Amino acid sequence: MGVQSLAVACGALALCLALTSATNPGFVVRITQAGLDYAHQQGIAILEKQLAQLKLPDISGDSRVLRVGKVHYELSRLRLRDFHLPYSRITPISNEGLQVSISNAFAEVDGDWRVKFLFVSRDRGSFNLKVENVYIKIILGLGSDPSGKPTISTSDCSARISEVQVLFSGKLGWLYNLFHSVIESRLRKILEHKVCDNVVKSVNSELQTYIRTLPVTARIGDKIGIDYSLVAPPRTTAQSLDADLKGEFYSLGHRSTVPFSPLPLAFSSDHERMVYFGASSYFFNTAGIAYHKAGALVFEITEAMIPKDVGFRLDTSVFSAFIPQLEEMYPNMPMKFRLSAPAAPFMTIGPEGISLQPIVDAQAYAILPNSSLAPLFLLSLTGNVSAVINVRSGHIVGSLDVGRIRLSLKDSAVGTFQVRMMQSLMNVLTSSTLLPRLNARLNEGFPLPLLDRIQLSNILVKFHQNFLLLGADVHFQPRA
Ligand SMILES: *[C@@H]1O[C@H](CO)[C@@H](O)[C@H](O)[C@H]1NC(C)=O
Ligand SMILES: *[C@@H]1O[C@H](CO)[C@@H](O)[C@H](O)[C@H]1NC(C)=O
Repeated sequence: MGVQSLAVACGALALCLALTSATNPGFVVRITQAGLDYAHQQGIAILEKQLAQLKLPDISGDSRVLRVGKVHYELSRLRLRDFHLPYSRITPISNEGLQVSISNAFAEVDGDWRVKFLFVSRDRGSFNLKVENVYIKIILGLGSDPSGKPTISTSDCSARISEVQVLFSGKLGWLYNLFHSVIESRLRKILEHKVCDNVVKSVNSELQTYIRTLPVTARIGDKIGIDYSLVAPPRTTAQSLDADLKGEFYSLGHRSTVPFSPLPLAFSSDHERMVYFGASSYFFNTAGIAYHKAGALVFEITEAMIPKDVGFRLDTSVFSAFIPQLEEMYPNMPMKFRLSAPAAPFMTIGPEGISLQPIVDAQAYAILPNSSLAPLFLLSLTGNVSAVINVRSGHIVGSLDVGRIRLSLKDSAVGTFQVRMMQSLMNVLTSSTLLPRLNARLNEGFPLPLLDRIQLSNILVKFHQNFLLLGADVHFQPRA
């Protein structure tokens, strides 16, 4: 499309932005060659077991043998003893999928043979077949279904057996030729066909079932969900497999459209770890919106919450040092604060880390003798908050650090006063009550989009413009 027709198609700039940014993921999962190699190892071990259980049909037929004439043969009770896949590798192919190439595989087949010839003569015995130099090439295609779950299928499979050697018990010399010319080739064809059949079946059942364990909706408590559905089919490049996920927090009660779109993630070419997660500022900011929408950004500070060692009572006698009228209006009464965020906090991510300047309303109340609350004053608190991020047990965990809190008076029922004087007090109050509780929650973390039975180790945390990059190695925990 030319520049002009693009402009025409978009019509208005707003629409153009909507069209181009609609598909940006809020969260990207990248599996590097190291990660694919690890997954491949696990997969090959499973395929090896599956192939060793191949069921082979009985084979029978008629053949003309020199000087003997027509011979009827039957092979029965064919059993694969084992199937070894010693050399194989996985390669991502740009825009196509994953190629698995298996070479020099080998197997052994046992069975019984039986022949009838010259109308009445019979002979029988057992045989052992060595199948060598088996080459298998599989192309796995990746996609996504309407629910945003990944799908996988075999888009191509070919198996080639270049050597079959039969050892059999029997005294008849011409039998060797029969085996060599007819039976070996028939068995080879059957095996080549069966191998791919089995691959297709294993991919459709085991592998497909497994990759569908990706939690496209991760729930956090009963209020918040994270939408990890794929926004497009997974992409392969020559170096990696990338999955673009929505990466959006939402309130389970009332999901609403997010008023901004994810920016593109300029993923670096790091490849030391098996897997990388790119969590955009969109991801974190939708968390702020979801928690705000769910009414979860409300917090009360009462006397009981203040640690003993802070040596501070939450009552009007303490605050009347700053507000003279308080002493007269509400002498010696306990107080409480209700903190709430008037708007969702907005985070920015840059190379130096995550930061935010949340605005918090703090309404102070006196608790009257009959337990009802008398509103005293409303403060607006703001400060620079930075976050430390880590990964633990498959969760993004964090802790916040707050710089000096700045206050301003928004409303007062007890006359005007100098809020500046109250600054240290509010700093102590929030840092001894709100922050530890917030950090305890953040320490429980938010689940990463991980397949079943995956454990992460060797964690790396890096900040880039507009996104957080997490790297990890993967360990697959087999079912006990
Ligand atoms: C509590 O006491 C205050 C003042 O003494 C009064 O105005 C208010 O109505 C009382 N509230 C209740 C629920 O009794
Ligand atoms: C937050 O940091 C910025 C830049 O470092 C500074 O200008 C601002 O005053 C700080 N805000 C508060 C409330 O400390």
